[in-house]
Amino acid sequence: MKTEKILGLMSGTSADGLSIALCEAGEKTLKVTGFSNFPYPGPLRARIIAAKEMKAPELSALNFELGRLWARLVRKFCRGRGVSYKSLAVIGSHGQTVFHSPGRGHTLQIGEASFIAEETGRPVVCDFRPADMAAGGEGAPLIPFLDGRLFGGGSPVALQNIGGVGNVAFAGKGVKTFGFDTGPGNSLMDTAVSVLSGGKLAYDKGGGWAAAGEADMRTVEKLLCAPFFRRRPPKSLDRGEFALDFLRKHFAGTLNRRCSRDLLATLNLFTAASVALAFRNYAPRGTRELIVSGGGALNPVLMDNMAALLLPSGVAVRSCAELGLHPLSKEPACFALLAWMALKGRPNNCPSATGARGPRVLGKIIKN
Ligand SMILES: Nc1ncnc2c1ncn2[C@@H]1O[C@H](COP(=O)(O)OP(=O)(O)O)[C@@H](O)[C@H]1O
Ligand SMILES: [Mg+2]
Repeated sequence: MKTEKILGLMSGTSADGLSIALCEAGEKTLKVTGFSNFPYPGPLRARIIAAKEMKAPELSALNFELGRLWARLVRKFCRGRGVSYKSLAVIGSHGQTVFHSPGRGHTLQIGEASFIAEETGRPVVCDFRPADMAAGGEGAPLIPFLDGRLFGGGSPVALQNIGGVGNVAFAGKGVKTFGFDTGPGNSLMDTAVSVLSGGKLAYDKGGGWAAAGEADMRTVEKLLCAPFFRRRPPKSLDRGEFALDFLRKHFAGTLNRRCSRDLLATLNLFTAASVALAFRNYAPRGTRELIVSGGGALNPVLMDNMAALLLPSGVAVRSCAELGLHPLSKEPACFALLAWMALKGRPNNCPSATGARGPRVLGKIIKN
C-alpha cells in the first residue's frame, strides 16, 4: 500500500510552543515518524495569551510574526531530519487560537500560513474550524476524526487529550465515534503557577508542586457543580473559561505563595475529576481504557489522580506513549491528516463530536 509523507503543525491554547509531526499516511493508517516541540520564549507566550485583548494592528502583526516563525521552524525541522520539501504531499497548520466561542458563533485562529507555503513550495492547509461552524458545528473538537481512524476498529477506548483544555473522544468497534471538551486542561494549573511564581515559571513541572501539597476534595466537589459539567455534548471550551478569572473567583483567598502547593494539588485533582466525570457520564458500555495524550500525560500526579478516580470503575489509564506515540505528537499528526484529506477534497470533520449538520471538508488550501 502506497503511503505519503505529510507534516502537521499545532500551536495549542497552552501557548507553550509549536509541535511538529512528520507522518506516513496510508488509506487507513497514520504513523508518526518524526516529532519535535519548539518551546516559545516567555514574552512570546505572554503575548499569545494576551492576544484576545489586542487591537487590530497588534493582532495583525502577531498573525504575520507567528506565520514567519513557523515557516522558520518547519525549515529547521526538515533540515534537521534530512526531509526534502519535495517529499511532502501536504502541510497542515492548525494555527493559534486567539478566541473560540461557539456560543457566540465565532472562532479565530491566527499564524499566517502563506509563509509556510512560500518557504516550502508545498500545499498548505490551514483554518480548519470555520467550515465546521458554518455548518452549525462547534468547530471543535477536531481530533475525534483521527481517533476514529486509529482506534475505530478495536475494543472501545476513551481518548483523552489534556492540552490547554481537556477533550475526550470515544471510539472502537460498534461505537459511533464522538467526543467533547471535558473541562480544564493544563491552562488552569499553568495560570496558577505563573501567577504564584510572579511569571517566572510556566507550568508545574512533573507535578512537583501538586505532589507536595494536599488537595481539598470538598472544593473539587463544589467546582464540579459548575454549569459546564451539566451541559450535554456537543460542547467545547475557550481556554479563558478555566483560567485567571476562574482562579480569582474561586480561589481569591488562597492565590498566594503560602498556599501554592495545596492550590496546585487541588487544581490537579479538579482537572482529573472532570475527566473522570465525563468518562462516567458518557463512556459507551464496555470502555475499559483511557488513553491520555497532550502535555497532561507528562504530569505524573495528574495521571495518578485520573487512575485513582477511575480504578473503582475498572478503567485503566495509560499514556499514549505506551503505544509509541509521543503525547505532544498526536495533535500535530491530526492536522497533517486533516490537511491531507482536505487536499483530496474528502470530508475531515467528525459531526458527532462537533454537532455539525454533516460531513464537511474543513480547511483553506494555499497552493503556489
Ligand atoms: N514535564 C511536564 N510536567 C508537567 N506538565 C507538563 C510537562 N510538559 C508539558 N506539560 C504541560 O503540558 C502543557 C502543554 O500541553 P500541550 O498538549 O502542548 O497543550 P496545547 O495543545 O494547549 O499546546 C504545558 O503548558 C504544561 O502545562
Ligand atoms: Mg502545545
